[in-house]
Amino acid sequence: MTYGDPRGDRSPRGVWAIALLACLMVAAQSSAPAADDSAGPRRDGRKGVGGSTTTYTKDILPILQKSCMHCHRSNQVGPFPLETYEQAKKRADDIASVAGDRSMPPWQPASGKGPRLKHDPSLTAAELSRFESWAMAGAPRGDEKDAPPPVKYAEGWALGTPDMILEMTEPFEVPASGPDLYRCFVIPTNLRRDLAISAVEYQPGNRRVVHHVMAFLDTTGAGRDKDASDPGPGYTSYSSAGVPVEGDLGGWAAGNSVHHLPDGIGRPVPAYSDVLLQVHYHPTGKRETDRTRLGLHFCKKPVRQMLHWANATNDRFKLPAGQADVEVKATWNVPVDVEALGVTPHMHQLGRSFRMFAVFPGGRTEDLLHIDAWDPNWQNTYYFDKPITLPKGAIVKLVAHYDNSAHPRNPHSPPKAVGWGPSVGDEMCVGYIGVVKKGQDLTRPGEQDDLFEILTKQYMRKTIRDQSARAGR
Ligand code: HEC
Repeated sequence: MTYGDPRGDRSPRGVWAIALLACLMVAAQSSAPAADDSAGPRRDGRKGVGGSTTTYTKDILPILQKSCMHCHRSNQVGPFPLETYEQAKKRADDIASVAGDRSMPPWQPASGKGPRLKHDPSLTAAELSRFESWAMAGAPRGDEKDAPPPVKYAEGWALGTPDMILEMTEPFEVPASGPDLYRCFVIPTNLRRDLAISAVEYQPGNRRVVHHVMAFLDTTGAGRDKDASDPGPGYTSYSSAGVPVEGDLGGWAAGNSVHHLPDGIGRPVPAYSDVLLQVHYHPTGKRETDRTRLGLHFCKKPVRQMLHWANATNDRFKLPAGQADVEVKATWNVPVDVEALGVTPHMHQLGRSFRMFAVFPGGRTEDLLHIDAWDPNWQNTYYFDKPITLPKGAIVKLVAHYDNSAHPRNPHSPPKAVGWGPSVGDEMCVGYIGVVKKGQDLTRPGEQDDLFEILTKQYMRKTIRDQSARAGR
C-alpha cells in the first residue's frame, strides 16, 4: 500500500516519524535511596535533616548511576565522564546548577505540564537538593561502604538477542571532514508474512560518527529505486526516507534506551518490506566507516491491538525571514474511538515551542505534550504513563512556534523565508499520535485490524480536499 504524498513525508503511520530516540533512557525509573527525601535545599552548607552530611557514596553516586552515567561515560554522548568520585567532585557546582535548572538530564517536555510520561528521567526535588547540598558541603566523598555496586552497561543487545537482526548490506565510508551526511540505506527484511513486533533496538556500527538513526518501512521498492539512482551505498535524505513509506521503526540517538510495548500491543512490519535506515553522520576529522544494525523483537504474547501513527500536520505555512515568533497550527480529527499511547513532535532547526492537546466533544480539553524550549537534537517519542482515550469526534490540536530571526541554529544566514520541506534548510510541523483502536481484540476469531485503513482513507480524503482547495485558489 502506498500513499498519495509525493514527498513521501507523511502517512497515517507516522511514516518516517522520528519516533527517533524512541525514549531517552530507562534507568530513570527506580528511585534513589530515600534518605533525606523530604529535605529541601539546605543552606547551612553541611548537614542535612537529622545531621547527616550529604556524601558522594551515599547520596550522589546513586543518582549519577541512575540518571547521568549512561551518557557521561567514555564513548558516549556526554562531553565528559562522570564515572569516578574525582570526576564528579571537579564539577560538583556545575552538576548542581544543570540539575537545578533542569537542563540535565536532557528531557524536553516542560515539567509539571501535560500527562505523566513513561521513562521520564527528570530528577525529583529531593534529588536536586541533594546535588545542591553536596556541592555546598564541598563535595565530600563519604564512606566507601555506603556506595552502591557499580552499574553494568549492556554492551550487546539491551533487551537480549533479537529475533531478527538486520544490518546495512555494506559498510559506509564517512569522509574526514565536510558537512554532516544524511544517508538512507535499504535493508531487505525478506519477511514472508506480516509481523507484529514489540521493540526495535539499534546498534550503531561506529559511535564516533553516527549521530542518530531512524528507520522506515517500504513495501513498494521506492527506496531501492532511489538507491539505484544515487552513487555509493544508500542515498541522501535529511528528515525522512525521501520516498513514500508504510510506517516507521522509531530510531536511535546516543543516550536513549529501548523498551517493549505493553503486552498485547504490537507494531506492524509488513511482509516483504524493506527497512530504509536513515543515518545522520557527523564527520570527526578522521576517515571512518560504519555498518549499523537493528534488531527486531517479535511479540511473544498474543497481540490484541496494533499501534498505528496518525498525525496533525501543517504543510502550508511560511515563516517570514527575520521573524522571531511565528505560530503554526494543525489538527487531527479523531475518526473512531481510539486510545492514544504517545506522541512524537517533529520540527527542524527553527522550532521553538510545541504544544499538543485534545479537545473532546463537549469542549473539555486535555494536554498531551508541552515543549517550551525545542531542541532539534533531542527528537523523541513520548509515551503516556496511561493511555488517553480519544473518542470519535475529538480533535487533536497542535500549536507550534518558530524563530526565523538570525540565531546560531538558523540554517540560513541571513535568514530567508522558509516553508515545508524535507531538507535541513526547510521546516516541518507535525505531531504524530500513536493510537490503538479502542476495544480491538485481534485474538478474537475473524477480527481484523482496520485502523490503518481508516486512517489511510481519512488521509486520502484530506489530501484530495487540500488539493482541490489549492486548485481553486
Ligand atoms: C541523554 C544523555 C545525557 C544524560 C542522561 C545526561 N547528560 Fe549531561 N550532557 C549531555 C550532553 C550531550 C551534553 C553537552 C551538550 C549540552 O550541554 O547539551 C551534556 C552536558 C552536561 C554538562 C555541561 C553543561 C554545560 O552547560 O557546560 C553537565 C554539568 C552535565 N551534562 C551534567 C549531567 C548530569 C549531572 C546528569 C544527570 C543528572 C546528566 N548530565 C545527564 C548528555 C547527557
